[in-house]
Amino acid sequence: MKESHIQKFNTVYQSSDCYYGQELRPEFTDYFANQNLAGMQALDLGCGEGRYTLYLAEKRCHVTAIDRTPAGIFKLRSTAQKLQLPVAASVLDIADFTFNKNQFDIIVAATVLDHLADGLRQRTIDSIQSALKPGGILYVNVFTVSDPGYIVKQQAASEVSVSGVSDTAFCMEYYYKPDELKLHFQDLTHLYYYEGIEEDLSHGQPHHHGWACLLAQKP
Ligand SMILES: C[S@@+](CC[C@H](N)C(=O)[O-])C[C@H]1O[C@@H](n2cnc3c(N)ncnc32)[C@H](O)[C@@H]1O
Repeated sequence: MKESHIQKFNTVYQSSDCYYGQELRPEFTDYFANQNLAGMQALDLGCGEGRYTLYLAEKRCHVTAIDRTPAGIFKLRSTAQKLQLPVAASVLDIADFTFNKNQFDIIVAATVLDHLADGLRQRTIDSIQSALKPGGILYVNVFTVSDPGYIVKQQAASEVSVSGVSDTAFCMEYYYKPDELKLHFQDLTHLYYYEGIEEDLSHGQPHHHGWACLLAQKP
């Protein structure tokens, strides 16, 4: 992960209690709300301040959470410790994480694949599918070419604040094309798939995001 991106995320995570808010995507909570996750093993890649990790850990799921930005991990560790939740949180680049085969019941990658450079992104997609146990669940979401940040990137705008665009948009490495996320995970059984544009009022100026969201199960 680039040093300038780590610094940006460090700054935003230090700027508020919960920079991206505590709200999770509805398809995620709808799916897990009534499930008993006690004792299961989950992995949250690019966990940030850990909103997905905390939700799963509150259900007594053991969560391995990694992120390269120290401020997010420090915050997550301190919350998990206070609430005595089963969370192992590490400051670690995804490039340096060892994925073992059939290790996790649940893997979450929420707006992180789109932050990875090309080679690492494809390796991570392959590693996620290998690291899921048969029957395991993947939740992944990414930003798409419908995102206003994509248009700004096309115009070669740099680290300037542009109205209507997320203030962390310059940290994006890639925007997904229509159906691309679905195709990358075509060997899994798709339980839910969505692409659309939504307003985001959780941080910075009001802005929109083009989303692709997938919930899938390893056969
Ligand atoms: C948009 S934030 C999403 C955070 C969290 N998943 C959420 O939904 O609240 C993207 C996160 O990915 C992390 N990240 C980006 N590239 C990474 C990498 N190569 N290794 C580890 N973390 C990375 C960033 O530090 C940042 O916290």
